[in-house]
Amino acid sequence: GIPKFVKIVEVGPRDGLQNEKNIVPTSVKVELIRRLVSSGLPVVEATSFVSPKWVPQLADAKDVMKAVCDIEDARLPVLTPNLKGFEAAVAAGAKEVAVFASASESFSKSNINCSIEESLVRYRAVCLAAKQHSIPVRGYVSCVVGCPVEGAIPPSKVAYVAKELYDMGCFEISLGDTIGVGTPGTVVPMLEAVMAVVPAEKLAVHFHDTYGQSLSNILISLQMGISAVDSSVAGLGGCPYAKGASGNVATEDVVYMLNGLGVKTNIDLAKLMLAGDFIGEHLGRRSGSKTAVALCRA
Ligand code: HMG
Ligand code: MG
Repeated sequence: GIPKFVKIVEVGPRDGLQNEKNIVPTSVKVELIRRLVSSGLPVVEATSFVSPKWVPQLADAKDVMKAVCDIEDARLPVLTPNLKGFEAAVAAGAKEVAVFASASESFSKSNINCSIEESLVRYRAVCLAAKQHSIPVRGYVSCVVGCPVEGAIPPSKVAYVAKELYDMGCFEISLGDTIGVGTPGTVVPMLEAVMAVVPAEKLAVHFHDTYGQSLSNILISLQMGISAVDSSVAGLGGCPYAKGASGNVATEDVVYMLNGLGVKTNIDLAKLMLAGDFIGEHLGRRSGSKTAVALCRA
């Protein structure tokens, strides 16, 4: 059977915006986060403390965090690629962070400019510092089924990186199909390999919707016992260092499917859609959520 409750991790303000060319004003980001939180989302990834040269859109991470860190109704994690980012995040008021590794050597190099092993060394240092501050650390693994350069990624490689992150103290491991190439045909063997070394209740899935496979991949993941799903309001997003990758699966579409399955999320779909309208109007873009488009016509 599938879980009775699914935790949705909203990544729109971070994954959704990081690839936007035009700089979104800090005040718009802050308002987006507030609206997402008020829709009932339990976790809203707020921004990244990364190099502004690598991700100019999130150069205002400190200001965003300072403006939202008083919000108590949701957890607001931020991405930290190294100790420098971790320290800046904590100074700005972050109470939860995420580190991001890759199962593909080429993607590790293009995204964070180091090898997988070097990244794990950095992340052990972040986990140690976080432990001293009692700050929970989430761990991402990117390219869990495919890489833009290397093609298919072996499930054993994903399991290895996931286990390393779990062993260094990450409370949850999010498995990212960064370029959205997976289908249940590749996702199932990948999850089987990871679940042999990390318990299902410590895993989350993170699908980009490039080939329209996200909802099928999410459903199969739920059937395998996973109960945490990452998604992005209005389907915003894409990784600047993964050419051709489109947005995350739309949060509205995930909520619509879970509502249909009778799975609880505590999210108010109407309020969530208003958050989607808000950022869509700002970006001048039609929603990437089929549910949002259908319900606003109805
Ligand atoms: P580097 O150039 O190798 O870093 O970048 P460095 O240590 O050599 O330092 C170079 C400069 O960067 C120095 O400044 C540092 O101070 C500065 P300078 O002396 O030249 O003025 N620097 C920083 N500045 C701010 N914050 C920091 C920081 N660290 C160093 N934390 C680095 C290495 C990791 C920093 C860089 O590659 C980077 O920021 N990468 C981030 C890329 C990124 O954010 N990608 C998107 C997120 S991952 C994703 O989207 C996938 C995911 O959604 C899951 C999925 O879909 O699969 C999570
Ligand atoms: Mg992503």
